[in-house]
Amino acid sequence: MADAQGNKIAKNFYVDVKPETKGFYLKGLTGYDWGVQDRMTRMFDKKSGHTVMLAFDHGYIMGPTAGLERMDITVKPLIEYADVLMCTRGALRSCVPSDSNKPIALRCTTGATLLNELSYECLGVDIEDACRLNASAMAIQVFAGAQYEHNSLDNLAQSIDRGLRYGIPTLGVTAVGKDMARDARYLGLATRVCAEIGCQFVKTYYCENFEEVASGCPVPIVIAGGKKVPELDALKLAFNAIRDGACGVDMGRNIFQAECPISMLKAVREVVHNGATAEQAYQMYQDLMASK
Ligand code: 5RP
Repeated sequence: MADAQGNKIAKNFYVDVKPETKGFYLKGLTGYDWGVQDRMTRMFDKKSGHTVMLAFDHGYIMGPTAGLERMDITVKPLIEYADVLMCTRGALRSCVPSDSNKPIALRCTTGATLLNELSYECLGVDIEDACRLNASAMAIQVFAGAQYEHNSLDNLAQSIDRGLRYGIPTLGVTAVGKDMARDARYLGLATRVCAEIGCQFVKTYYCENFEEVASGCPVPIVIAGGKKVPELDALKLAFNAIRDGACGVDMGRNIFQAECPISMLKAVREVVHNGATAEQAYQMYQDLMASK
């Protein structure tokens, strides 16, 4: 019970100091609830406003892929250098130590493999399990313009509604089908659709005129790394994306297929968080490799 006696008399109400009223530091997210903002803050550094996500969810459609045959061996050493881990719940429970204490962008769609029509997906994780795993975001694949576009947009809307109930943001992941051009017109449409449906952040691909894609999307965008390219090119991709308005990268193959994955992840961080040029970061990458 509260003590009625011996209390210091309250006297300082700071009547001259106006309470803080400024908005949230990430674009488009000022209107969200505390839980959503807290989780976004766990993923996006407050100083740079950016994030370096490590994606290793490829197996959910591809099975064992180059570099991810043994996630327990490949991924574990990288965990401490990533801001966010993007993976399936199977990978998380089997290969990620629970004391890693990293924000998780949980892959929550399923229903297709490389052997079939990729866009025919459904929700594959219950919101309760996302809560149980302390997910910081639920990642939902969106196939704008594909055969089963409707299903993927329905998955997205359902995830957003469920996430809002529990304060978990949804990451809309814009997939590019076989016949779709990775250009600003298409990616601009796909990212904007995700944001309008209510995603708190969106993952897409870098493209020519990316600044228009980023500008037309009212919430933060992170870019995928895509197929493995030489390390300097991957760093240029990260640099260009940040310069043109991305708030981070969600890279997989260009990290874990690099000659030295930890050094590559550190080099990407230099670009994303510290404003290094691709060339500076590449020099750092080479220095780190030479010092091994
Ligand atoms: C697929 C994804 C994957 O996580 C992502 O593309 C993997 O990253 P990378 O392309 O850098 O290997 O979201 O839609």
